[in-house]
Amino acid sequence: MSIFIKSVSPRNYLRGYLYAIIQVVLELKNISYEVKTGGSRQKILDHISLTIKSGLTVITGPNGSGKSTLSSIIMGLKKPTDGQIILDKEDITNLSITDRAKKGLALSFQQPVKFKGITVYDLLNVASGELISEKEAGKYLKEVGLEPARYLLREVNNKLSGGELKRIELASVLARHAKITIFDEPEAGIDLWSFTNLTKVFKKMKKDHRTVIIVSHQERILNIADRIVILENGKIKNSGTPATILPEITGGRHAA
Ligand SMILES: Nc1ncnc2c1ncn2[C@@H]1O[C@H](COP(=O)(O)OP(=O)(O)OP(=O)(O)O)[C@@H](O)[C@H]1O
Ligand SMILES: [Mg+2]
Repeated sequence: MSIFIKSVSPRNYLRGYLYAIIQVVLELKNISYEVKTGGSRQKILDHISLTIKSGLTVITGPNGSGKSTLSSIIMGLKKPTDGQIILDKEDITNLSITDRAKKGLALSFQQPVKFKGITVYDLLNVASGELISEKEAGKYLKEVGLEPARYLLREVNNKLSGGELKRIELASVLARHAKITIFDEPEAGIDLWSFTNLTKVFKKMKKDHRTVIIVSHQERILNIADRIVILENGKIKNSGTPATILPEITGGRHAA
């Protein structure tokens, strides 16, 4: 299956060029998140400080360590109890999800948002923010291993399988060309045959100097990271390159 079409529109080429020369920097400063459970306060995130630059940052750690909470906080779905989020030197801690999206942040959901009558092509147009040709829309579908002729004009509804919906969501995130894209467990629901294609998508984003944050338990995704951050009990346990961090993860128990 051919996954990548090398042709890049002038607009996307320019964007790639700009990302290469302008370093997009996201800073998390002392982020804490607490919830009230049965009268007592529970600390879900405990003073997380992290500077994220272009390339692939993979956040991993045990179930319940706070990875999805952190993703939601970056995107503005949850408000931190404490701390600041700085994007390109601007404090975005109090901005809404919409305003953060306008500033170039995107979060890949488990499944695409479904509206009656909306086709895959419509969804990719909305995601890219302008009218794109069927050829360009098809390019995003091919990147996630879906045949454009079969899927472009299908309605985004529950008649699509879980894996197909997941790939359509990934394609729409690619079409967004956001400054910073966050993927929370992108491998969920993707079969092993397609998994290699998924890592190719991330490698391409890395090559294009995109800033990508991936929450993942998958060793093959950890392997291609520029930086791995391990969360445990709401704190950063360790961070570094795969060469330094992977032995720690795979030494005792397996990452995947
Ligand atoms: N509103 C809430 N009320 C109570 N507990 C919460 C709330 N939100 C999150 N938690 C708890 O916070 C912890 C972190 O949740 P989170 O979803 O961020 O974990 P995760 O690292 O993404 O885990 P997984 O690998 O299973 O996806 C969990 O123990 C969860 O039950
Ligand atoms: Mg999670």
